[in-house]
Amino acid sequence: MSVIKKCLFPAAGYGTRFLPATKAMPKEMLPIVTKPLIQYGVEEAMDAGITEIGIVTGRGKRAIEDYFDISYELEQEIAGSDKEELLNSTREIMDRCTFSYTRQVEMKGLGHAILVGETLIGREPFAVVLADDYCVTEGDGVLTQMVKLYEKYQCSIVAIEEGPMDETHKYSVIAGDLEADGVYRVHNMVEKPAPENAPSNLAIIGRYILSPDIFDVIRSTPPGKNGEMQITDALQIQAQQGNVIGYRFQGRRFDCGSVDGFIDATNYTYNAQSA
Ligand code: G1P
Repeated sequence: MSVIKKCLFPAAGYGTRFLPATKAMPKEMLPIVTKPLIQYGVEEAMDAGITEIGIVTGRGKRAIEDYFDISYELEQEIAGSDKEELLNSTREIMDRCTFSYTRQVEMKGLGHAILVGETLIGREPFAVVLADDYCVTEGDGVLTQMVKLYEKYQCSIVAIEEGPMDETHKYSVIAGDLEADGVYRVHNMVEKPAPENAPSNLAIIGRYILSPDIFDVIRSTPPGKNGEMQITDALQIQAQQGNVIGYRFQGRRFDCGSVDGFIDATNYTYNAQSA
């Protein structure tokens, strides 16, 4: 049994980069080949032994709730046919996981979305997945790698990757001291800096393990970049106390929040499945 039991999925964003598709459909439901993006995230959590899934939704996101549920009419229609097995992956998820939802009624940043999820998490360490960062690995999934690290360090952990310096404005960027292979003790982090203000080229991607005090820290942290409550600013406070680890994960991540990354992920997955 995993020490981390819950995973939070902030999923209230508008997905404007995928308009018009996202006008009437959550971006988390856009499929990479035949599975929606959010399913890959849930499977990654499940592989890490996490079975309590909390989703922070918003207006226009009901399709997510319907997806992780039974569709009686459809299932009756395809029962006994060769199509039945196409629902095996979602059936397994529903057998093993529970789903809880809460709504973010105002978009006030990622820190705010996570704070809204407090009611689903309570006071225990938890994982956060941003479903538009789609990660593929050869061995353990990224969250499995991070849960193992949590067992050792018992503090907040952010997944990082080396990015080009001309893209620092898209990510939170960290500075830290190398403590072990791929493991940094973070001492500084900046949300979406211009390249000249970036403390390094190590960017945070959408996988976090957060210690439960993060909720109090978010509550007491003033709004930051773009007037939003940034999880980066709250983590920076934990980092100053030596309580944040940056982890260079093993694997490859696709930025499916952008059309190019989404297409790359689709091609990669299609090729991998037909190989
Ligand atoms: C968010 C966070 C940022 C992080 C990124 C990872 O940005 O604010 O710190 O590096 O996710 O994908 P967004 O992609 O929502 O603009």
